[in-house]
Amino acid sequence: MYKVHINPDDLTLYLSDEKSLLEHLRDNDLYVKSSCGGHASCTDCVVKVVDGKDNVNEPTFAETQLLGNVFHITKERLACQCFIKGEIKIDISAHDKASDEARRQNKSKKVSSNTRVRKKKEVESIISERKEKSRLKRESKDDESWKNHWDKDKSVAPKRLGGGMRPKKIKDIEEDND
Ligand code: FES
Repeated sequence: MYKVHINPDDLTLYLSDEKSLLEHLRDNDLYVKSSCGGHASCTDCVVKVVDGKDNVNEPTFAETQLLGNVFHITKERLACQCFIKGEIKIDISAHDKASDEARRQNKSKKVSSNTRVRKKKEVESIISERKEKSRLKRESKDDESWKNHWDKDKSVAPKRLGGGMRPKKIKDIEEDND
């Protein structure tokens, strides 16, 4: 168990290295935003390791892909990829549940006011229209009349390339000139 000091709540916890920092914080009812569920793909769970940056594991490949190789400068880690190996001090002040919640609700309100609700009949007509379109498209693909049309229409003589004339031999050209 390692001592972890958490700002801004000025809280001290003793955490093991068996779980990620994100899991520990969640278990202790501390809010850290996360959209991907700890799979290192959203970068929402960034926390700052204020002290003891050597007491956490090296950034994983996935983490480096997302945040870059700048941990020693920014001291930012993905909580879901961070495992504690000694005493550290972290800052989770960037994670505010109330403001995140409000933002999410505003977003959903915006979407609902902009969303156009269609009636069942309208939807059915759109679906049938699309089906008809795709059927026509499929039929036009199956129509192979355009293929090798020169073999089918014998009345049209194939056009000879180069005007059907052979280039004159140099000897003939010289004779013409004389
Ligand atoms: S929870 Fe998404 S990257 Fe950590």
